[in-house]
Amino acid sequence: MSEIELKREALSSSLQYFLQLCDEAEAVLCGKVVKPTPQMDFSELLDTLMPLPRDKESVLGSTFKQLQLMVQDCTRCRLCETRNHTVFGEGALPARLMVVGEGPGAEEDASGRAFIGKGGVYLDSWLSSIGLSRTNNVYIANIVKCRPPENRNPLADEIAACIPYVKRQIQLVKPELLLLSGGVASKSLLNTDEGVGKLRGRFFRYEGIPTLVTYHPAGVLRNPDLRRPVWEDMKKIASFLNIPLSGRS
Ligand code: URA
Repeated sequence: MSEIELKREALSSSLQYFLQLCDEAEAVLCGKVVKPTPQMDFSELLDTLMPLPRDKESVLGSTFKQLQLMVQDCTRCRLCETRNHTVFGEGALPARLMVVGEGPGAEEDASGRAFIGKGGVYLDSWLSSIGLSRTNNVYIANIVKCRPPENRNPLADEIAACIPYVKRQIQLVKPELLLLSGGVASKSLLNTDEGVGKLRGRFFRYEGIPTLVTYHPAGVLRNPDLRRPVWEDMKKIASFLNIPLSGRS
């Protein structure tokens, strides 16, 4: 075991012992039976106080800030050659809902902000119809962080190079619910070839996090018949998050 690991273990034992003393003192002062203190998991606190040394090329154990810097300088695939800005993601932290889209378009590439073009404004309106917003309780990110030229779909090797970033983002955001918007996000994170039409309407788990799939706003702008199913998906999200919808059906 390395020196830092030994120190982390010592701190963890001391914290556990301190909690036990507090419980014993409380029991004695209140005249209660002294019960054993349950074993606590201090790993998050330890990661903050005594982070383990990191491989700078790996997202493992990275903080939000470190991840952001890695994305900013990323040259893992050819998309770095044509981008103007990387688009990390944005929104509220903590977030009740995390939305994952496909990748930046022209406006996002020009500004460095996720979902700010026509599709983004539409997505914001879906969220606001159920009382959610990226300023209050939603975090938004994409599968790839750089714009594919001509807005083509990201290629398999580009997704493979970039996906560790969004996976780490999901771990760090820890939303109550994950919403995968469009086929690229759902296929990449649920490891399936099924289309959105087959996947939407039921709950999945991505790394233990309840997950829903819906259409991509750009697709719905092109095909208004998809508006109804998207509204059904929004109602499912509201119901899962216990958000009352006054009389809308
Ligand atoms: N489409 C996406 O999937 N993401 C964006 O950020 C913008 C458009």
